[in-house]
Amino acid sequence: MADELKGQVAVVTGAARGIGAAIGKQLASMGATVVLAARDQALLEQVKREIEAAGGVAEAAELDLLDESSIANLAKAVEARHRRCDILVNNAGIGVLGKPLTELAPSEWDRMMGTNLRGPYLMIRAFAPLMIAAQSGHIVNISSLTGHNPFPNGAAYSASKWGLNGLTYSVAEELRPHNVRVSVVAPGSVNTGFSTSNKNGDKKIQPADVARVVAMLVTQSPQSFVSEVLMRPTQKS
Ligand SMILES: NC(=O)c1ccc[n+]([C@@H]2O[C@H](COP(=O)([O-])OP(=O)(O)OC[C@H]3O[C@@H](n4cnc5c(N)ncnc54)[C@H](OP(=O)(O)O)[C@@H]3O)[C@@H](O)[C@H]2O)c1
Repeated sequence: MADELKGQVAVVTGAARGIGAAIGKQLASMGATVVLAARDQALLEQVKREIEAAGGVAEAAELDLLDESSIANLAKAVEARHRRCDILVNNAGIGVLGKPLTELAPSEWDRMMGTNLRGPYLMIRAFAPLMIAAQSGHIVNISSLTGHNPFPNGAAYSASKWGLNGLTYSVAEELRPHNVRVSVVAPGSVNTGFSTSNKNGDKKIQPADVARVVAMLVTQSPQSFVSEVLMRPTQKS
């Protein structure tokens, strides 16, 4: 096992499956202690077991991004247990897709914005103080190419990701003076259960591909950082 991240603590949201699970495994394989956070504890425990079987260190932590106190409790627990957070990956996200905006219920809008945009804001608010105190850290937000391109029948999802891009670039300027780097990764379609379309799964971007980009971002040499990575499948499906 490589040890590039040995001694570092990484918190990954939405680590129960898909891209988040792949990011957790990748960072653990580089020596980080990974806090896997999501709602489904059974799935998190499974990811944790897989990491441990490969010789890594992971913890499963309950997190509901729609619940402010759940976020505050996670931050308190990480601070009490580790006294540090070196890497925060805001990966968790949901999409209510395939509906014109006029047919989207306000409750669906709120759930998407709450998870995809307010969630990362609250996570940064809760965890950045630990990074500022250490004068070191990296935050990676997982956005989407739909945060750059028009996405008919997914306007609210798209808006949440455009918002996440703006949040990333702006808070990056606030945290730069504290030696905390903030980046955003914007993948196209990734082969997870997120989308109902399972067509051409092997031609899609794979979760491990996104995880490798996150690994690259958090191991960038200290004098520079990458603001954004756009990811596309090599073969158009
Ligand atoms: N798959 C794609 O094609 C694609 C493309 C571009 C960008 N993305 C973005 O990549 C990220 C991960 O997507 P994915 O494909 O891996 O999705 P996924 O397989 O559906 O996994 C989503 C993860 O988010 C967690 N989550 C959802 N709501 C949550 C909440 N309220 N609190 C805490 N955790 C919550 C889920 O766990 P629980 O349900 O257990 O909480 C799950 O672990 C998302 O932000 C998505 O927008 C995906």
